[in-house]
Amino acid sequence: MVVTVTHRVISPGMFIGVEDADVVSFGSGQPDLAPPFDVGEVFLNFSRFKYGKVGGEDELKAKLRGYVKREFGHCVDEDCIMVTNGASEALDLVLRKVSLDPGRRRVLLTKPYYYSYPHLARINHMTPMYTDANIDLEDVKEKSGNCDVMIVNSPANPTGNVIEKSVLRGIQEITEDNGCILISDEVYHSLTYESKHYSPKGENVVTVNSFSKTYSLCGYRIGYVFCQNPGFMKDICEIKAHTSMNTNLLSQRVAMECLCVPKRHVLKNREIFQRRRDYIYRRVKELGFEVEKPEGAFYVLPKVGDSMSMARDLFFEHRVTVYPGERLGASGHVRLSFALPQDKIDEGMGRIDEYVAKL
Ligand SMILES: Cc1ncc(COP(=O)(O)O)c(C=O)c1O
Repeated sequence: MVVTVTHRVISPGMFIGVEDADVVSFGSGQPDLAPPFDVGEVFLNFSRFKYGKVGGEDELKAKLRGYVKREFGHCVDEDCIMVTNGASEALDLVLRKVSLDPGRRRVLLTKPYYYSYPHLARINHMTPMYTDANIDLEDVKEKSGNCDVMIVNSPANPTGNVIEKSVLRGIQEITEDNGCILISDEVYHSLTYESKHYSPKGENVVTVNSFSKTYSLCGYRIGYVFCQNPGFMKDICEIKAHTSMNTNLLSQRVAMECLCVPKRHVLKNREIFQRRRDYIYRRVKELGFEVEKPEGAFYVLPKVGDSMSMARDLFFEHRVTVYPGERLGASGHVRLSFALPQDKIDEGMGRIDEYVAKL
C-alpha cells in the first residue's frame, strides 16, 4: 500500500502495516525474516471453519506446556495456559480482569515503555504510574505498594535493556509482598545478545508471550499467557469468550508447526539481529549521538534532542521512518528498529547521515 500524507503530522499508528517502496522504515517492530517453514503447506491441508475452544486448541496448549518448561523453566498445567490474539490481547485480558476487581486502578510501568502500555491501562480505566527502566528496587517497593499491577518487559522495547535475573527476582518478591500482580511481557525472549533470558516466577506472576517476534508471525496474531492460578485463567477465558472468542485456528496450527522446528532456526535469527545490532549501534555512535548498546530485542534509542522534528524531517524530507521517543516515555530520543534487511539499514543510515550533515 502506498501512503499519502498531506499533513506534516506523525504518529506511531500511522506506520503500522504501511509499506512504501521509497521509504526506509526503522519504525516497524516486526521481523523482516521469514517464518521457520513454508506456511503455505499448512493452508493446503487445513479445513476447519467452526469456532474453536476459547482458551486455545488442546494440541497447541499441550505443546506450549512442554515449551514453557523447556525454555523458561515454568511448570504449568494446561488449564493455566491460554492462547490469544498476540501478546496484545493477553495484556488487555489481564488488565481487564484486574480492572473488574474493586479498587484495582493503578499500573506501574517502567519508563521508557512499549507505547501501548499506558493506553491499555487507560482503556481499562486504570492509571499508569512510572518507575525508571534502570530499575531502582527501592522505588519499585514504594510505588508498587500503591499499585495493583506492575508490567516488566525484558528484553525491552524501546531500550533493548535486559533486566538482570537478580533484579527481576527482587521485583517479583517486592510485588508479591505488596499484593501486586506482576505481568512479565517476554515477547523478545529469544533476542538476548549478552546474557541469557530470565523469566520471573511466582504466585503473582502472569507471563505474556507471542509468536510474533520469535517466529516472525506478527500478522498471524498469535500469542499466549500463563500463570500459576487456574481461577485467574478461568476468569480471563470468560472475558475472551465474550470479546474475541477463539484465536484464529489457522494461526494456531501454524504456531504448532513452529514449536516443532529445531531451535537452531531461532538461534540463527538471533545471530542475524546481533550482527545488525552491532552495525547500527556503531553507525549511530559515529553520527555523534549518545546511545546505549542494546542487550536484546531489535531497537536502538539514541538521544537526539528535538526528536519530534527529527522524526518529521526524516520522514518528509528523507523518506526515513523513526519513532519519536515522546510516544514511548523517552522524550529527546528516537527509536530505530533494526528489523529490516542489512541493505535497507545501510541505505537508511546513509540518509540519516545526510540529514545530520545538513543540520
Ligand atoms: C513489548 C511488546 N509487547 C507486546 C507487543 C505486541 O505483540 P503481539 O504482536 O504478540 O501482539 C509488542 C509489539 O511490538 C511489544 O513490543
